[in-house]
Amino acid sequence: MSEKKIIIAIDGFSSSGKSSMAKQLAKSIGYRYIDSGAMYRAVTLYAMQKGLVSPGVEPDTEAIIKSLPEINIGFEVTDGGQSTILNGSNVEKEIRSMAVSQCVSPIAAIPEVRHALVAMQQAMGSEKGIVMDGRDIGTTVFPDAEMKIYVNASAQTRAQRRLSELIDKGVATTFEEVLANVISRDHIDQTRAESPLRKAHDAIELDNSTMTIEEQNEWLLDTYRNIASQL
Ligand code: DC
Repeated sequence: MSEKKIIIAIDGFSSSGKSSMAKQLAKSIGYRYIDSGAMYRAVTLYAMQKGLVSPGVEPDTEAIIKSLPEINIGFEVTDGGQSTILNGSNVEKEIRSMAVSQCVSPIAAIPEVRHALVAMQQAMGSEKGIVMDGRDIGTTVFPDAEMKIYVNASAQTRAQRRLSELIDKGVATTFEEVLANVISRDHIDQTRAESPLRKAHDAIELDNSTMTIEEQNEWLLDTYRNIASQL
């Protein structure tokens, strides 16, 4: 297999299973994994902590833009995988809460927020050997990525997966609430003016609605091997 390090961009809808696949692939091939959605969630958590947004309330866009220089985001490898660090604190659990999920899409639609995070993401990928997942990785962050995957699955399938994850974490919610959140985020992610979610022209599409996690992981590793062998 080629030793040349590449950039792997995995984009798709929320709860499409792309993070689990991306994480597993990075582990299998010894690459760094970056969850770009966690970075948008960390900015959202910071804005919530400062009272600049809350569920059902429009974000204070100007104040959020002004606070961007105060926000420092990093990742730390832990026993349980990877944790997101916001200004020195481990916020991995808080950024996955329903409240953050409800507030994140309008914040991720603010152009200045996107520009700041895209610059950080590009710096993280400057040495390649990285698997990054998100919405605009293959289109905006790394348009020249050697491997691009676009993951899809029905909203119902994704809501069911997200519900199971939340129940495992002890979060009280219902299928209807999760489905409504998934549909609303899909809509905002696809219709925002700045870097909307869309398939890059050269991305390989994967609909994993009827695939097991093992099948997805195998498919992704085979796809990587195939691309790497041609470099
Ligand atoms: O993948 P996720 O559900 O953790 O993403 C959280 C939010 O961040 C989601 O509403 C879409 C947004 N996002 C984005 O706009 N661009 C990315 N590269 C990653 C996530």
